[in-house]
Amino acid sequence: MPDPNARTAPNRRDLLLGAGLAVGAVPAPATADHPAPAAGPAKPFNFANNPPRKRKSFADLSDDELRTFCAAVGYMRNGSADKPLTLDNPVQWDQFVMVHAHHCTEAGQFQVHWSWFFLPWHRAYLYFMERHLANIVTAVLKKDGDTFALPYWDWENVREVPNTRARAAQGKPSPFFGYDLSLDALSEPLPFDNLALWDGYRGPTLEKPKLAPESEAGPVWGNYVKQILQHTSPEYLTSILRLPWPEFGGDEVISRDDGQGMLEQYPHNMMHDWVGSRHGSNRDMGTLRYAALDPMFYMHHGNLDRLWSLYPYTPKPATKPAWANQAFTFTDVDGKPVSVTVADVIKHMSVVTYAAPEAPSPAGKAMLEAVAALPKEPPKPVSEPLLEKAVAVAGAPVTAPVPAAKPAAQALLARGAGKKPVPAVLEFAVGPLAYLGRLSVRVFVNKPDATAATETTDKHYIGQIAAMDSHAGHRAGGEKASHKFRLPVTRGDSSFFDLVTPGEAFDLTLVPVGSKQALSHLKLTVKSVTLKLFE
Ligand code: C2O
Repeated sequence: MPDPNARTAPNRRDLLLGAGLAVGAVPAPATADHPAPAAGPAKPFNFANNPPRKRKSFADLSDDELRTFCAAVGYMRNGSADKPLTLDNPVQWDQFVMVHAHHCTEAGQFQVHWSWFFLPWHRAYLYFMERHLANIVTAVLKKDGDTFALPYWDWENVREVPNTRARAAQGKPSPFFGYDLSLDALSEPLPFDNLALWDGYRGPTLEKPKLAPESEAGPVWGNYVKQILQHTSPEYLTSILRLPWPEFGGDEVISRDDGQGMLEQYPHNMMHDWVGSRHGSNRDMGTLRYAALDPMFYMHHGNLDRLWSLYPYTPKPATKPAWANQAFTFTDVDGKPVSVTVADVIKHMSVVTYAAPEAPSPAGKAMLEAVAALPKEPPKPVSEPLLEKAVAVAGAPVTAPVPAAKPAAQALLARGAGKKPVPAVLEFAVGPLAYLGRLSVRVFVNKPDATAATETTDKHYIGQIAAMDSHAGHRAGGEKASHKFRLPVTRGDSSFFDLVTPGEAFDLTLVPVGSKQALSHLKLTVKSVTLKLFE
């Protein structure tokens, strides 16, 4: 294994931020359009002889495993006094972070969010992070890197900034807040920086580490946290794990049309928000461009990847060349670019497995049982469009009628409103779309007077068309593509079917929210709203 400490130069993490993450050492695909394969000098990555790795819940790490993890992360971020790892080193943390930044906001770069590439690209990204850390464990820490695995944060069980159970039992706070050396009276000096897992741009604090409305300063975030709790719950995860691939894992990219799966749109975006978005400028976890700077990014994505590993059906797109043959470029531990296709990700990364959390919540345990008992085939959707015509939304609320005179749609509404809840989704096809920072358009049923001041606790509120802050406005300005957004509306989980009466007209009011500046930039067209049932 190559020594990551092969080169020397000043190490300044801030340089990267100062440079706006604008330059990268990694050759990236040459085209903005998805179907084209990645260009560049990268050689196909050789998956042979790579050790199997079993990832554990962060809560289940032993003290020893935690120290090794912190030491490796701390080294990759900052090097050490005797072995500096410089910022221009292609295996340094910030260089790795840039690979992610390129793939989310840079104009002309391959976009790996909002579509069926979301899960495979991030699976490969984690794989290489784990490989870099394992290499440091071997080459720098002189331990056995082959047994190293990235931990994951099972936020559906652990509703707070994660800590190991062993530390929590001793009353020691999460190492994500740094090591407190007055509490952590260690027999030997730390082999890493106290702040190996620290990030300065997080919302939750040492005093308020819990994902709970009471941790929040005001009703806006308090109410949002209620939605986050709902959409990261084992019950919600169970409900999306049983849906077909596009709804779970994202839509095929056709021309430039795409769509987030519900794993991305809800738990993914929302946990990013909870960790990173609070104050005006959403840094690190709150904005895609900087998110991977925070070590928590990898714990969060580890859980998303684990949830994918629980998905009971073969992803439909596995048979589609546009998905399977898509290549991505990463940096290997020798600093050289390597390429990996989606088909590689599916085939070879089965050597990475997930240990179930040792102490899941009762609901988390029930989720695992329910998912294991799912049939081998996903349910077939039946769908009907609801709107008569497209609706344009700018900075102000708009109401769109759903007429009674649409018999097929009305029949589907009646089925969804039936006694036995049928999994149901409202699918919004949105485009063109231009926005600044965060996208957030609330949807109300039969509430034409709803405004941005109407609380999300209002009984007419059914969800929002939303996306993470993307900082560089990749989707701003004249883009012609259309993007899917999905609202889960299954009776019992959502009030949608309580608000509509089958056979009668109703209306949807779309309420954009955000700063004055953001609202003045917002433009979107809702081309269609489709009700989909999965029986
Ligand atoms: Cu590429 Cu969670 O983002």
